[in-house]
Parts: sequence; C-alpha cells; structure tokens
Amino acid sequence: MSDDQHSLYLPCPRGLEQALREEIAEIEGCGAQPQAEHAAGLSLRGSLRDVMLLNLHTRIASRVLLRVAQGPVAHADDIYRLALRQPWAQWFDADATLRVDVTAERSPMQSLHFALLRAKDGVCDHFRLRDGRRPSVARENPQVRVHLHLDASSATLYLDTSGEALFKRGWRAAHGEAPLKENLAAGLLRLAGWTPQAALYDPFCGAGTIVIEAAQRACRIAPGLQRGFGFERLSGFDPAVWRELRAQAQAARREAPAPIVAADIDPRMVALTRDNARRAGVEQALQVRQGDALEGPTPLELAPEQSGWVLCNPPYAERIEAKGAQAEDLLPRLGDRLKQRFVGWNAALLLADLRAERSLGLKASRRHVLFNGPIECRLFTFALVAGRPPRKV
Ligand SMILES: C[S@@+](CC[C@H](N)C(=O)[O-])C[C@H]1O[C@@H](n2cnc3c(N)ncnc32)[C@H](O)[C@@H]1O
Repeated sequence: MSDDQHSLYLPCPRGLEQALREEIAEIEGCGAQPQAEHAAGLSLRGSLRDVMLLNLHTRIASRVLLRVAQGPVAHADDIYRLALRQPWAQWFDADATLRVDVTAERSPMQSLHFALLRAKDGVCDHFRLRDGRRPSVARENPQVRVHLHLDASSATLYLDTSGEALFKRGWRAAHGEAPLKENLAAGLLRLAGWTPQAALYDPFCGAGTIVIEAAQRACRIAPGLQRGFGFERLSGFDPAVWRELRAQAQAARREAPAPIVAADIDPRMVALTRDNARRAGVEQALQVRQGDALEGPTPLELAPEQSGWVLCNPPYAERIEAKGAQAEDLLPRLGDRLKQRFVGWNAALLLADLRAERSLGLKASRRHVLFNGPIECRLFTFALVAGRPPRKV
C-alpha cells in the first residue's frame, strides 16, 4: 500500500473540533497531521493506513472523507466537468453501485439536488467513456459513496471512506427516549475532561449512550471493531494491513480502571442500557441501576474513596419530561443534590436551558456550545467544592 499523503476531511458535531484534534493525537500509530479546524470539521493530511486507523478509532468524527478533487464552480456544469476528469478507476470500477451526497455552505447554486446529479453524471460518464459501462446508482447500501461539498466559489469531491456514518457503532439495539448520538456522547466526555482513571456516574442514562462510550474508551475498545467501512470496498486499501490494524485494536482491550455507573428512573431504560452494554461488549465494566436521580444514596456513595464525574443530559422540556416525585423542580433539586452528595466531584451537564445555572444554583467553570440534533445546548461544567450551603427550595 502506498505511503502517499492525501487531504482528508473529518466532519464532526459542531463544538467538538478541538476535542477531535486531541483524540486523533492519541491514536497510536496514526501519522495524520491536522491542517486546519473548520466549523464542524477538521482537515488533515494522512496516508491510506491513517484513513483506516482514523475510521477504526475515532469516537468523535462522523466520517473520514478523502479528497479527490477541488475546483472553481460558477455553474453546475463545472461540477460535471470536474467529476468527469478524475481518475475514479483508481478507486472503484464501472460495476460498483454508487451514491453521491452533497453538503453546501454559502453556495450560490440554486438547486443542490441538481448539483448532486451533475456530479453523479460526471462520475458515471467517466466510466462510460472509458469502459462502455457505468456504475449504477443505489441509495441503500451503495458500494461506493462520493461526497460533493460546495462553498461560495468552489466544489470539492471526496470519497467517503467510512460508508455508514461513524456514530453508528453497531451496538445500538433500540433507541430510548431522545438518545444522544454516540459521537456527541464521546465528545462530551472529552470536553468535560473526564479520563478513564476517574469514576463516572450518569443518573439519567436513558439508552446508556454516555456510559457505553465511556466504558468502551476505558476498556480500550475501538469504536469501529463491530462494523464495516466504505474503504473495504475501495481499491488501494490493503486488506492485510487492515487485518493487522484490527488485530492490534483487539489486543489492546483491558479492564476499566474505575467504576462507571448508570441509573434511570424508568425500568425500560435500565433494561435497554444493559442490552446495549452487552452488545457493545462492556457489560462487565458497567453498573446499571434503577432509581430516581433525586432520591436515596448515590450509587457512588458505595465507593466513597473514589472521586469522579457526574456526566449526563437530564430531561428537558422540548424533548422529554422529567419523571419522579420531584420532577417539577428537577434542576434546583439536582443542583442541591450535587452540592450535598458530590463534594470533591466534577459535574458536566448538557442542557438546552441556557439559564440552567440559575436554576441549578451553581456557577459553571466552563460552558461549551453544542447541538443535540437541531437543539442548541450548553455543556456546563462544575467543580463541586465544599462549603456551599444547599439553597432552600
Ligand atoms: C434526555 S434522556 C437521556 C438520554 C441518554 N443520555 C441517552 O443517550 O439515551 C433523560 C432520561 O432521564 C430519565 N429520567 C427522567 N426523570 C428522571 C429522574 N427523576 N431520575 C432518573 N432518571 C430520570 C428518563 O427516563 C430518560 O431516560
């Protein structure tokens, strides 16, 4: 496999660009070099081996796109001509099934769908002129995905080396209510500053996304071990190297160094978290309990010598109601509970209520702007120091 360097673009949830950069720097053996941070993405230079490593190990990126061409665009036909003249046969042949996707930022193109069709025509005509045959289009399970990105004046064509989006890890059996995407959950853990040496407690675990992502990281389970990737169907990616990288990832597995505890008031969510954890291979690393986040002793009071992180996305009105006897005052009561029971801990709460600090009665040390789907949120981070009296509610 050649060591040629390629321009790569890794889209990620907005607000996680720096966290993605840090994550990539920690991927063992990955030589990909960051070039620039963008809104919701990172550009890198790297080899095809790096492309495989990135797909296998990133928990935060949504895809790994490999740049094939970039050119100025004034009219949709410029996209056709750009696509027509690229050496696609280096990557796949005329018998492949193909899907083209498009994204745009300040593009003057009137119809993105038409732009997409012109890119697809260019790729297909390239093969028709060369071989007399052309790839057929498949929206579902295509063998090859080409991604077109348009900005104010240019078009970029990428090969999507991931295939299905990377947040689809292959372990999710069913969705709970308003689950986080896996890569957003992984990003929260990194943004908050949690490391696997510290205990972790999610008292509103839902389908268990946060704790499962944490447990896979703590157990050094590569997030891509349970799924396939687009590059496996592209020429140029050496299957022997891929087998070796997978084997190395499999051998890296270890036990989680600190407790990871999940709880939810809803027994169906508890069952779902257990099921997802089993499918993700982290059942042993998790303690999963049923209970009200505002009542009873905290599970981690059973291991009081440990300090760590409370990290969660509590229910919020737009998507899901709080439950339990004190649901109406959820945030004030949660704030009091954090102050009373988690002294010495850190907390990181993802909330859509931008005035949540006032409701919680806690002042955040950091606030990160993030988006849970279309909903603008903040990840509020708190150091829970001794000496704050609980507020009378
Ligand atoms: C926004 S969801 C969490 C989603 C989760 N992060 C995921 O990715 O699946 C909020 C969860 O809080 C739970 N919940 C609501 N009120 C609760 C309470 N008082 N104590 C514990 N859990 C509660 C709900 O059952 C729901 O599963």
